[in-house]
Amino acid sequence: MKVTIIGAGNVGASSASLLAQKDIIKKIVLLDVREKLSEGKSLDISQMLPMIKSNTEVIGITNDYSKSENSEIIIITCGIPRKPGMSRDDLVNTNAEIIRTVTKKSILFSPKAKFIIVSNPLDVMAYVSYMTAKVDSSRIIGMAGILDSTRYRFFLSKRLNISPIDIQSLLLGGHGDTMVPLYRYTSVSGIPIKEFLSEEENNAIIEKTKKGGEEIVNLLGTSAWMAPSASVVKIVEAILKDSKRIFPCSAFLKGQYGLKNIYLGVPVILGKSGIEKIIELQLNQKERNLLKTSAHHVQNMIDKLKNF
Ligand code: NAI
Ligand code: 2OP
Repeated sequence: MKVTIIGAGNVGASSASLLAQKDIIKKIVLLDVREKLSEGKSLDISQMLPMIKSNTEVIGITNDYSKSENSEIIIITCGIPRKPGMSRDDLVNTNAEIIRTVTKKSILFSPKAKFIIVSNPLDVMAYVSYMTAKVDSSRIIGMAGILDSTRYRFFLSKRLNISPIDIQSLLLGGHGDTMVPLYRYTSVSGIPIKEFLSEEENNAIIEKTKKGGEEIVNLLGTSAWMAPSASVVKIVEAILKDSKRIFPCSAFLKGQYGLKNIYLGVPVILGKSGIEKIIELQLNQKERNLLKTSAHHVQNMIDKLKNF
């Protein structure tokens, strides 16, 4: 079992570290374009592993894709993150070029790999990777909904003074200000959220969730990586264990929710072949409209990219 992570920055190195600690992968390759970075970070991770009794081998590579050969999963975390004052969308042209290049190189050496895309703007980058890799869309998975729905659970738990572990939530749409957390599909240990909070009160939590990434950018000067890398690990585990878990992920839509030819956050079943099923919910008119607005926003960016 081999997993390659492209980009040894904050999200990439942190994902390598969390995955290695799980002791479920034989070999992790951490690859970056910047000389010595992945070599240094993977040595540090490797020297932690005897303490926590993990046998995972972690190796750092500068830009040599032959070392990623026959990876089962490729995780793309490379590119630029946003700085204060920037939106995720401001990264689109720079990161699209990087994602194209690294997808092309990765697929050459790992033609059967599943790809987990992390780079922003997420839904557009997943689309770019899919168009470049030219493989079945079940193999190209965008990570965002797990992070956004966990942030939503965290903020709800603070508001309600209950454990976030007991909160179930679902989220649709693009990773950005147009994300659509679903009040109707949120519950606490099976009890509908409306028993705890009015829709209006919940809207304030949703607004906080939408700004969750920005809040951290303003505090740190760069974007979050701890919760994002834990979200990456959830997807990797679901694929490797073929667990059929349901998570919100960015997936290629072929008519589901009335949308096509776009990557957007939807609930999916994850297993050994990647996205094994997209779950289509019966949305009400308001939810449908919010999802349409979100899709429109992502589509606009894709269209601009095509003209670029
Ligand atoms: P970072 O700046 O810490 O790391 C990015 C790494 O990519 C750097 O080490 C850089 O040298 C490397 N890189 C750049 N071009 C490359 C290339 N052509 N080949 C290989 N490596 C290359 O950034 P960070 O914080 O790790 O974020 C990475 C990306 O993930 C950003 O676009 C960020 O916005 C996105 N992100 C997405 C999240 C999500 O929920 N989907 C959550 C957090 C971050
Ligand atoms: C986040 O939401 C940067 O997209 C990333 O933290």
